[in-house]
Amino acid sequence: MKDGCSPQGQCGCCTVLVDGAPRVSCVTPVRRVAGREVTTIDGLDEGVRGAWSAAFAAVGASQCGFCSPGIILRLVGAVVPGRATDPGAGVRRALSAHLCRCTGWQTIEEAAEVATRATASRLIVDPMDGRDPTAAARRARLEGGTDQMVGPEVALGRGGFADDSAPPDALVAVPDGDGGYAVASTLTAARSRAGKVQGRRSTEPLVHPVPVPDGSWDVTLQTTWVDPGYLEPDASWCGPGGSPRSPLGNGGAFGGKLASPVARDARELADRYGRPVRVLWSREDVVRMGPKRPPVGAGIRRDGTGVLAFGSPSPWPDRDMDAVRAAVRAVAPGLDVYLVPVVGPPVSAAIRAAVWAEAAVLAAVAPWSATASPTPGATGPGPVTGATSPGPATAGASPVLGVPITVVSPGGGRATTTMRPDGGVVVEVSAGAVLDPVVLRSYVIGATHQALGWVLSEGIAVGPDGEVHDLTVRSLGVLPARETPPIEVRLDGDGAGPPVNASDAVFAATAAACWLATGLAPTWPGHALAAGGTR
Ligand code: FES
Repeated sequence: MKDGCSPQGQCGCCTVLVDGAPRVSCVTPVRRVAGREVTTIDGLDEGVRGAWSAAFAAVGASQCGFCSPGIILRLVGAVVPGRATDPGAGVRRALSAHLCRCTGWQTIEEAAEVATRATASRLIVDPMDGRDPTAAARRARLEGGTDQMVGPEVALGRGGFADDSAPPDALVAVPDGDGGYAVASTLTAARSRAGKVQGRRSTEPLVHPVPVPDGSWDVTLQTTWVDPGYLEPDASWCGPGGSPRSPLGNGGAFGGKLASPVARDARELADRYGRPVRVLWSREDVVRMGPKRPPVGAGIRRDGTGVLAFGSPSPWPDRDMDAVRAAVRAVAPGLDVYLVPVVGPPVSAAIRAAVWAEAAVLAAVAPWSATASPTPGATGPGPVTGATSPGPATAGASPVLGVPITVVSPGGGRATTTMRPDGGVVVEVSAGAVLDPVVLRSYVIGATHQALGWVLSEGIAVGPDGEVHDLTVRSLGVLPARETPPIEVRLDGDGAGPPVNASDAVFAATAAACWLATGLAPTWPGHALAAGGTR
C-alpha cells in the first residue's frame, strides 16, 4: 500500500477494498472496518492480480508505478465487466478518485480494457509480448532520467521505493517545520510531535512574480510556480554507519528529487540515534520544501528575438546558468535569458526542461503571433501572410488549431504536436532507435498530459512572504482523466541513430501547440482550450 498524501485522502494511492468496495485507507478509521474484509493488492485473487499487472505492463500503464496498486484495486472494485453500459466512461469516472503524474491516464484506460476482457474470457495477457526488457528499461531510463524497472511487478508497486524496505523497528523522522526533524517510534507519534497543522488548498490567487521585461513584443508570457507533482513523497532510511536508500524509487520524479536531502538526513539521524531511521516527508513537506519549476516573464518578437527572465529565490551556480543558457541557445538563439530574484519556494534547473522549454515554446509560437485561426490542415507556421497588425497577442486572440508545432530538444529529440479542432492531440516523435515502442509511447503520452496541465491548470499559490499556500495534492492542478483529451502518438518507425530522450521535446511542443489553441493567453495557467479540447 502506498502513501502519496495522507491524511489528505486525495491521491488514491492507498486505496484498498473493504468487502470488495474501494476505500481510501488513509481517511478510513480502523473502527469502520472492524469485522470486515480488507484486501490490498497482495491479497487480490492471484489470477485477477496477474491479469491486471500484465495488462498494465503490456500497454505501458505504469511508469514509476507508485499510483498503480491503488488504481488497480479501484478498477477491480468499481468497474465490473458486463455491468457498465459504457466501460470507458466507468473507468474514467473511477479514475477521478486518483492521481497519476507519469502516464497521462490514457494507457491506464487501455490497460483496464485489456484486463477486464482477459479476466472475463480467462485469457492470459503476455506482459512483454516479445519485447526486450533490457531495451524497454533503457528507453525508460532515457525518458525518466534515472534507472527504472519495466514489467508487471512495477504495476504491483514493487518498483523499489525506499520506504517499502525500511526495517519495522526503525525510528521515524518527519520535518518539524523549523528546519529539523521530529523523531519518534511511529509515524503518528512523529507527526504529532512535529505538531504541524494540515495544509489545505487556499483561496489565494495564483501570482506571476516575474514581470515581462521591457520591450516591444509580439507575444508575452508569464508563468507561476509549478510543482513537479511526483506522487511518492521524498523518503529514505538508513542504519547507523550504513548507506541510505535513494529516494529515487523507480524514476526521476521529473528532476524534483535529484537534490533531495532525505538520504543525507537519514544517514545523519541514524548515526545520531544509533538505530535505523526512516525519513519521511508528507505531501505538505514536499510542496513547501521541494523544488519548483521556475516562474518566467518573457517577451518575443515575430523574428524570434526577445528576452526571457526566470525567477529564483537564490542565485544559481555558474554551471546551472551556463547549462540553461546553452540549452536556450540551442532552441531559441534569439532569446536572451537571465535570472531575477523572487520571494518564494526553491526552484531547480533539474526540473524537466526548466527554462529551455519555455524558450522553445516562445520561439515556436512567435511566427503565429498575429495569425488568425488557420483552417484545419494548414501545414505549419512559415512566413505569416496577411498579418496586418503585429500587436501583442492577448487573451481572447484567435485560437490556432490544426497546425503542427515542432520542437527539437537540445539533446536532439524531435516532437511535432497538433491540437486537432475536434479536441484530440496528435504527437509525432523522432528520438533515434525506439528501443521499446510501448515504453516510448507511454512517456510521450505522459509528457503530453503534463504539458497540457502546465498551460491549462497547474500552479501553486505563493504569498507575498514566499510561503506556499496550496498544500494539498489536488491543488497542484494535475489534469484529471476526464479532462485529458485523446492523444494519438506516431513514432518515427525508422529508429535511425542512437536513442535520445523524446519526452522533453514532446513537453515543449505540446505546450506551444496548446498555448496557440488558447489564443496565446499571456499568463499560464487557467485558460480553457478554445475549441472543445476536453472531453
Ligand atoms: Fe502513476 Fe507514476 S505511474 S504516478
